[in-house]
Amino acid sequence: MICCYDICLNEDSLCMAAGIRDLLVMSGSRQRPHIKRPIWIIVLVSLVSIFLISAYVYPPRSSTACYIFSSRGCTMLEQPEPPPSRELSDNENIAQVVIKELLKAPPVQSKTPKIAFMFLTPGALPFEKLWDKFFHGHDERFSVYVHASSEKPVHASRYFVGRDIHSDKVAWGKISMLDAEKRLLAHALLDPDNQQFVLLSDSCVPLHNFDYVYNYLMYTNVSYIDCFEDPGPHGSGRYSEHMMPEVQKKDFRKGAQWFSMKRQHAIIIMADHLYYSKFKLYCKPNMDGRNCYADEHYLPTLFHMIDPGGIANWSVTHVDWSEGKWHPKVYRAHDVTFELLKSIASVDESVHVSSNEKKKVMVQPCLWNGMKRPCYLFARKFYPETLDRLMYLFSNYTRV
Ligand SMILES: *[C@@H]1O[C@H](CO)[C@@H](O)[C@H](O)[C@H]1NC(C)=O
Ligand SMILES: *[C@@H]1O[C@H](CO)[C@@H](O)[C@H](O)[C@H]1NC(C)=O
Ligand SMILES: *[C@@H]1O[C@H](CO)[C@@H](O)[C@H](O)[C@H]1NC(C)=O
Repeated sequence: MICCYDICLNEDSLCMAAGIRDLLVMSGSRQRPHIKRPIWIIVLVSLVSIFLISAYVYPPRSSTACYIFSSRGCTMLEQPEPPPSRELSDNENIAQVVIKELLKAPPVQSKTPKIAFMFLTPGALPFEKLWDKFFHGHDERFSVYVHASSEKPVHASRYFVGRDIHSDKVAWGKISMLDAEKRLLAHALLDPDNQQFVLLSDSCVPLHNFDYVYNYLMYTNVSYIDCFEDPGPHGSGRYSEHMMPEVQKKDFRKGAQWFSMKRQHAIIIMADHLYYSKFKLYCKPNMDGRNCYADEHYLPTLFHMIDPGGIANWSVTHVDWSEGKWHPKVYRAHDVTFELLKSIASVDESVHVSSNEKKKVMVQPCLWNGMKRPCYLFARKFYPETLDRLMYLFSNYTRV
């Protein structure tokens, strides 16, 4: 009888109103006989007036499905989404339409789908020879892009020669980092065969062979973007009220910058100006007494807001923060053993720790198409001196 039960679950007053209206309709449609006592009418009339007053004082929010005066009744109106709690600006409406359409678009089919490996580095890439081994024999299934922000690298592998893109200076923790990521995406998107876009640093190494990585990234429909809610000072503590109303504190998320992203999401990054500007202006180091780093918050927050089910919530690049220092562990040559690489490659749970006093540990199984699988395809940070060890061990530790 209360037709708006499932569409207005959290709009109690309206459901109540609809109930009253049903009562009115019912009592009206049956002939008068029952309504002899004036008390009945008085009670009813006062109930209705109370309701009308409250409806006037607390007007129903826009786009509410079962508007009480709607002649068609609730069931006729379909409104799958909860009503927005505020009126959106023109720019927000535009952004939401564009993002929604891009998310609905089916993936572009390519005969030779490729993975774009995008290297973000200050200069030389110490592990080019290792990557050369990794890429060897898979020529049609990948492409390489190098953004070298301070000096032009001399390449040691033919797969990297001629793959430098125009680059600009990158300052650690500043928006120029995000701009470099966007520049890499923009170049890599020019090749219509590129379907997944992996961001890697100069200290990253592969943990598996090419086929494993290719199948892991291609046969899934999510982006591996790290994302979690950190109520502590290095998480929500970096949020600035200036980001309101487009970015609210409850949506502010954190995650490592090293992503693997599907094409659809990469295009959304290209299209987004609104949310990007909020981070550019209000998430930066040394602002209002806090340090905010856009490269750790923009992607997790944006995708948490627009497509939470479309991201895995962990990064496929492993890093070891267990020493609890300002920087993660960096492996030396003597650390690099078959056992170390195998143990990183077999981790199948992602762990996030909050930065407040509670140091809350959040553990999630890594689910690949619903099945528990190892989380990581790459690892950082390795000193250049580890190259020889890694080359020696590569075919062994990447054997399946
Ligand atoms: C991904 O694919 C699975 C089936 O393989 C489907 O159930 C799921 O809805 C898809 N998710 C997205 C975000 O497209
Ligand atoms: C990622 O986390 C969000 C919650 O923030 C959740 O809704 C989503 O389902 C998660 N993604 C996957 C693939 O489990
Ligand atoms: C390769 O791995 C096997 C065990 O899987 C081990 O017996 C062998 O010594 C390893 N070779 C090298 C070069 O580490």
